[in-house]
Order: sequence, then C-alpha cells, then structure tokens
Amino acid sequence: MEILIFGAGAIGAFYGSRLAFNKNVNVSVVCRSNYQAVKTAGFSITSQQFGNYEWSPARTFANASEARKAGLNWDYVIVSTKALPDVSDDSQLLAGLISERTAIVLIQNGIGIEEPYARRFPRAVILSAVTITSAAQPKHGSIQHHRWTKINFGAYPGDSQQATSKNNLLIDLLSKVGVDDASAFPAQKLQLLRWHKVAINAAFNPSSVLSYETDNPSMVHDADMYEHMKGVIDEVLGVALKLTGLPLPKDFATPQQILDSAKKSPKGSFPSMLGDWKRNQKMELEVILGNPIKLGREKGLDMPRLQTMYALLKTAQATREQRSESRL
Ligand SMILES: NC(=O)c1ccc[n+]([C@@H]2O[C@H](COP(=O)([O-])OP(=O)(O)OC[C@H]3O[C@@H](n4cnc5c(N)ncnc54)[C@H](OP(=O)(O)O)[C@@H]3O)[C@@H](O)[C@H]2O)c1
Repeated sequence: MEILIFGAGAIGAFYGSRLAFNKNVNVSVVCRSNYQAVKTAGFSITSQQFGNYEWSPARTFANASEARKAGLNWDYVIVSTKALPDVSDDSQLLAGLISERTAIVLIQNGIGIEEPYARRFPRAVILSAVTITSAAQPKHGSIQHHRWTKINFGAYPGDSQQATSKNNLLIDLLSKVGVDDASAFPAQKLQLLRWHKVAINAAFNPSSVLSYETDNPSMVHDADMYEHMKGVIDEVLGVALKLTGLPLPKDFATPQQILDSAKKSPKGSFPSMLGDWKRNQKMELEVILGNPIKLGREKGLDMPRLQTMYALLKTAQATREQRSESRL
C-alpha cells in the first residue's frame, strides 16, 4: 500500500509515522520548509504515549511535482496542511496524484475545507477527518506528540460503499499501530463534529490572540472571559444544530464540559492560532470563523460574537502585513 502525506508538519508527520509501523505500508511525504531536514535525517518523534522514535519516510518529496514524477498509484493522499483558502487552493497541487484507487483524506480543522477537493476531484473518495490530537513541530523534523490520538473520519459529501471500505481500512491500519480511538462517523455526523470542533476553536483560538496571549485555563477562570467563551460556543453550536438538523449527540462534550475541561488544562497551554500569530504566520481565520459565518448567514442565522472576532482579527492580520511590507 502506498500512502502520501501532503504537508508533513505536526499532524501529518505524527499520523504518518504511526501508519508506517504497518507491514507492507509505504508512507511517503511532501514537505516544504522542513524538506532539507527531513530528507537528511527523517523525523524524530517524542510522545508520552508511544515513546521517542525516529521515522524515515519511504520517500521524501520537496513538492507536489516531485511526487508526481514518482508516478505511483497512491491508495491514500492525506492532506494535513493548514487550511488557508485565502492564501492558496491546495487542491490544485494534488492534480496528477489522484487516481481511481486514491482516497483523499483531509485532516484539517474548520468548515468548508472539503469543497475545493470535491469540486476538483468529483469522482474521488473524500474522507473528512477531525482530530483532537495535540502535536507540534518546534524545529524542522522534530515532532512533539503532546496528548490524545482521537480521530474521526467520515465520507464527504455523503456516504458510499467505496468510501466506507476506504474508511474502515484506514481505521484498521491506525488501530493496529496503537491509535485505537480512530473511528468512522456517518457523513452528516462528521460534519456536526467539525462544527463542534470549530465551536471550541472559535472560542479559544481568537480569544487568546485578542486577549494578549492568555492561556486556556486563565481564559475560563476569568468571569468575563468565561461569559464570552460560553457565548461563542453556544452561538456556534446553536447554528450547527439548526444547519445539520441533528441533536447534539450523547458522545459529544456539552459546552459546560468543554469549559470545565479547559479549567483543568495545564497552565501555559495555548491554542495553536496564537502560535501562528506570534510567528507572523497566517491564521486559519477563514475556515474557523469566515466560512461558518457565511454558511449561517445563507440560512438567515447570524453569529455576532464570531463576526466581531473575525472582523478584528482579519483586520489585525492585514494591517500587520501592510506595515511589515511598508518597512521593507
Ligand atoms: N497541531 C495540532 O495539534 C492540531 C490538532 C488538531 C487539528 N490540527 C489541524 O491540522 C492541520 C495541520 O496542522 P499542523 O499543526 O500539523 O500544521 P503544521 O505543523 O504547520 O503542518 C503543516 C505542514 O504543511 C506544510 N505545507 C503547507 N503547504 C504546503 C505545500 N504547498 N506543499 C508542501 N507542504 C506544505 C507546511 O510547511 P511549511 O512549514 O513550509 O509551512 C507544514 O510542514 C490544521 O488544519 C490544524 O488546524 C492541528
């Protein structure tokens, strides 16, 4: 079996390194800024759960066109770039890599991330994945797996027999190598899970940036911030339930449980968007805030708390870019 990880950063390299423990499975990677480090020395992974280990991918490509030249028939192309539709349409980079046998797997946060892939590859199986894994790449090729492995997969835009078998096979491969909380959801429930994750991301990520780098537990321990965070989660989940027409499943955390869990999180745990902001990188604003706002509006459902944070952060990001360009 041939698996290609497109965007081998924290999440892609972590899951890729686990999948590579399966016999008869070759896992290759398309890198970008970490290419030289990974080509030379592979990845070093540190994980409390799995220990420390080295992983040399079957093949390391500098970009998509190098991967195309390899001429392989990929079983899975796993996309784990940041979802930044305002920067690039990454679906176009997959041209020539997708055959009838390939399932495209999208492990990314946000809403609407599948659309460009479904438009460009209308006959391909698309598996949408939501993970709560916490991982980072502090240095090129060094992957820190902090906590959790849980990942859910669902077909997009709807269920099919072909998607189910691709889904089950991937879950089986993960469970054989210790990721035993990977599971399949029906397509619609997976979309609701996306919204649920976005409710959490939309509450914590922008608020940490806008509150001058406040960590997760401090945000929920402050009474005014708590009211704001709960307001955001309620707002997003309220719209999500209306849009999907589903009740909140029993296996999804309630807003109260989300906030209680954040209260117990270690001091100094920050949402990843703050890291993007501090590194001067683009934040996933469109898929976490912009797209949900747009989809809600199309059905007459406004999310004023989300819209306010979106407007402020989008403007902060643009203003910062303009100022740094004018300094050059
Ligand atoms: N990290 C987490 O704990 C976590 C948890 C849950 C969900 N997620 C979600 O998972 C997704 C991936 O996040 P991440 O934290 O793994 O991000 P990341 O560490 O930044 O990894 C993304 C990787 O994709 C590479 N990339 C981007 N565009 C590329 C291109 N055109 N060709 C080749 N490589 C490319 C990046 O290279 P450069 O370094 O050159 O940009 C980077 O190595 C995001 O949607 C995120 O929200 C992350």
